[in-house]
Parts: sequence; structure tokens; C-alpha cells
Amino acid sequence: MLDHLKANNRAWAKQKIATDANFFNRLERQQAPEYLWIGCSDSRVPANDIVGLDPGELFVHRNVANMAPPQDANYLSVLQFAVDVLKVKHIMVVGHYGCGGVSAAVDGKRRGLVDHWLHPIRELYRECSAELEAISDGHARLDRLCELNVIRQMRNVASDVFVQEAWARGQSLCVHGWVYSLANGLVKDLNVTATGPE
Ligand code: CO
Repeated sequence: MLDHLKANNRAWAKQKIATDANFFNRLERQQAPEYLWIGCSDSRVPANDIVGLDPGELFVHRNVANMAPPQDANYLSVLQFAVDVLKVKHIMVVGHYGCGGVSAAVDGKRRGLVDHWLHPIRELYRECSAELEAISDGHARLDRLCELNVIRQMRNVASDVFVQEAWARGQSLCVHGWVYSLANGLVKDLNVTATGPE
């Protein structure tokens, strides 16, 4: 089963070795990425491809609607490993316009477990309702909510104890908020980068 995927895999590995004979040997010995990507699970937002990075260059955490919930053990484990062990220099929280998770958070329909996962986005909508409800176009309103969610999650990362401790010991670390556009493949920097506790 899935023979086409296995064939793709063999072709991919062969092509990697053709351009760099030691590629896998090198990766096997060490992983030293400079970046942690926290993004959405959406299949249209492939982290490495978007920023043109090879295996070994990007540490990746993805979940529905690119969340960084301060009590989520999965996200926290990734964050601590990235900051304390890999000592990444940059963390990018990357949302995307047209995010189904962000949309599902506020469309009023019941879906089950994911409603709990997306609860912080519903709260965020309430907090920012004056700004959001001033936007008459529904798609534009959701796109703004995608941006606001990135900023909120990016603040969760920057205010986390692991990141605060890294800054306190003088470690160089920047936390960025980006939004990716499915329409043109481009990333927009929301210019909310945090480089220290201030
Ligand atoms: Co999404």
C-alpha cells in the first residue's frame, strides 16, 4: 500500500545524495537548526518549503490554528527543547489567512474536542470585537482574526518561562509573528518581533 509514496521517498533520498553525497551522514550525527516554526497543521502550509530550508535547518511544531497554549505539554516540550537544548536563534509563530481553525472557532457550530482547543480564539474575538466587527467583509474580518491570533500566540511564547529564562541568561533569541498567504505563497511579517523581556 501507498507504493507511490514509497517510490517518491526513494527518488527524494536519491536526489539528495546526488547533490550532496554526505547529506544524510551529516544529519544523522547532529541536528542544529537555528529556527523553531510554530505553525498550523493545514496541508497547504508546508513549513520547510515556504522558507526554502532543508532537513536539519528548521525545528517544527504544528497544530490546529498555530496555537501556543501555556498549559499544552506537547508545545511546551518542543519549546523547551528548542530553546534549552538546540538553542535556536529565532522562533516564528506562523498563521495563515483563510485558516479553517480560526474560522471554526467563531462560526458558532459545535464540532467536539476541537471546540475546546479553539476556545482561546473565541475569547480573543470577544476581546477584540470592537475592531473586528468594524470590518464589514467577513473574509477580511477572519483574516484580521488570524493576525490577532498570531500576535496572541507569539506573546504566549515570548512570555513563557523558558524564553524569559533564556533572555535572563543572555541567550540570543527573537520571537516573530508571521502570516502566510495561501493566495500568493508569501509570508507577511507582522513586525511584532520580541528580542528581550521588555
Ligand atoms: Co490553519
